[in-house]
Amino acid sequence: MIVTIDGPAGAGKSTIAKGVANRLGFAFLDTGAMYRCVTLAALEAGADFQDATSLHAIATDCQIEFSFDKVWLNQQDVTQAIRTPQVTKHIRFVADHPGIRSWLNQQQRRIAADRDIVTEGRDQGTEVFPEAECKVFLTASIEERARRRQRQLAQSGTEIPLQQLIAEQNERDRGDQQRQMGRLQPAPDAQLLFTDGMTPEQVIQQICHWAADR
Ligand code: C5P
Repeated sequence: MIVTIDGPAGAGKSTIAKGVANRLGFAFLDTGAMYRCVTLAALEAGADFQDATSLHAIATDCQIEFSFDKVWLNQQDVTQAIRTPQVTKHIRFVADHPGIRSWLNQQQRRIAADRDIVTEGRDQGTEVFPEAECKVFLTASIEERARRRQRQLAQSGTEIPLQQLIAEQNERDRGDQQRQMGRLQPAPDAQLLFTDGMTPEQVIQQICHWAADR
């Protein structure tokens, strides 16, 4: 069975998807991490982000693996390195590239083949797994999403004003909603879940309930 969880930046998809996967005993796939890996590889190679051909070549050379709660890029642990603001700033060049998206979509389908999995991203229920049995579109108000992100950053010692985070998330949402391929949007058959005022546990329970229904 495939459970897809899509939604905008800061909606808490990773925490929720991991929680649902644990509860159901399913595997978990963070597809944002794959876009981050390709972006990191391009930064490390000193790539010209405007050069679509070399960006594509870098992407198809990336060997991305998930194991022991870590993300591996060409056998290196990049779990932390893919989360830097520099990677986030450059990711749109990779995410807007149709050839790279097609290649990553193939990898995602390969990882999910023949297993029960919870997969999260922007386009999982629409483009990558249109046949998934259970699809969820997770969202929250922009203020709530920015506050969650602020709390997360504070835990790692970074204080960023709420207004700045709201502006950054609005910009990322706009880019994610406007791209030609794999744009952020709910699948027509997705269940919408607006999580303001809900605890993570309540969200996990609701999704597990939907999955059980299927
Ligand atoms: O989920 P996360 O915030 O780590 O994703 C980083 C970026 O990767 C997103 O802002 C989006 O541009 C891109 N992405 C995507 N399609 C996915 C997952 C992530 O375009 N399935």
